[in-house]
Amino acid sequence: MGDMQVSKAPASTVDGSRLQIDDLLDGNAAPNSDLNSGADVISGLARIPKTLPPHYFYDRHGSHLFEQICELPEYYPTRTEAAILSQYADDIAQITGPSDLVELGSGSSTKTRLLLDAYAGLDDRLFYSPIDVSGGMLEQSAYTLLEDYPTLSVRGLVGTYEQALDRLPPTSLPTRTILFLGSTIGNLNPCECDEFLDRISRALQPDEYFLLGIDLQKPKPILEAAYNDSQNVTAQFNLNMLCHLNHRFSGDFEPAQFQHWAFFNEKESQIEMHLRSIVSQTALLEKLDLIVELAKGETILTEISRKFDPEAMQAQLSTKGLETINFWSDPQEWFGVLLCQKQ
Ligand code: AVI
Repeated sequence: MGDMQVSKAPASTVDGSRLQIDDLLDGNAAPNSDLNSGADVISGLARIPKTLPPHYFYDRHGSHLFEQICELPEYYPTRTEAAILSQYADDIAQITGPSDLVELGSGSSTKTRLLLDAYAGLDDRLFYSPIDVSGGMLEQSAYTLLEDYPTLSVRGLVGTYEQALDRLPPTSLPTRTILFLGSTIGNLNPCECDEFLDRISRALQPDEYFLLGIDLQKPKPILEAAYNDSQNVTAQFNLNMLCHLNHRFSGDFEPAQFQHWAFFNEKESQIEMHLRSIVSQTALLEKLDLIVELAKGETILTEISRKFDPEAMQAQLSTKGLETINFWSDPQEWFGVLLCQKQ
């Protein structure tokens, strides 16, 4: 039961030799991981306030809702980052030269494509390694890219970022660039962020690169509107976490008994998303042998989304041996993209 090699293309004309997917989530590879066991649900719900890890947003329906969020008029991060990449992808490729691209998250194809297009101008051969906990999403996006980029090879890793960063395949091109876009780094608390940057730094050889997208500080009404959209897609995304937990752990949470609540915490410079219990209630997660008691008005924190000061982020990266060699932003300075090089 080792790595899984996917060799069959579902309804695709892609030559299977250009695609390899290694499954690091395999039972033997990660027997005790929180991701498989629900230990993170048990420990999170024991905290005050109750907390659930944001990775439980992303079942099939949740991933679909997230794609919809990215298109919402109020949700500026995706289109602002894409505009920055579309303007500066060639500069990024020129600075790094031909590079294997490793993406944490299988990425919206728009952003990945902007970079692949830029790198295709430097070298015929393209090497792309998406890393994602969802093997289905990863495989689907890999096939679409392989069809559109005939000289592309994809080596996907199905697993957590931690698992994958410890097992990156050797590079085929002269350097490697790890991509972490969309300000997903903002979903990590300061301690998790620190550990994550340590891992990035350890995964890179001297002179290799890290391309990081960060959401920047801006007026509160703009931030709060992005997480309280008028079509209520973000509310559905938040509530769907309960459906996912019900499905995964034989639970009986009633989403209709909860409200979406998102606000900007200025002191911590972070959006907080909570699920507020509108009644006093008890839920059972049978597979976890867990009873969850909620008082009327009690909240469960489902996500933080930190908004960064670019100078502070550069200083933190520098303590990890990751020197920022370029920073790009949009005219309103709402979003930033940093290119760092390992010292
Ligand atoms: C994935 N992540 C960067 C998004 C964010 O903005 O923090 C997730 C999200 N939550 C609600 N809307 C979007």
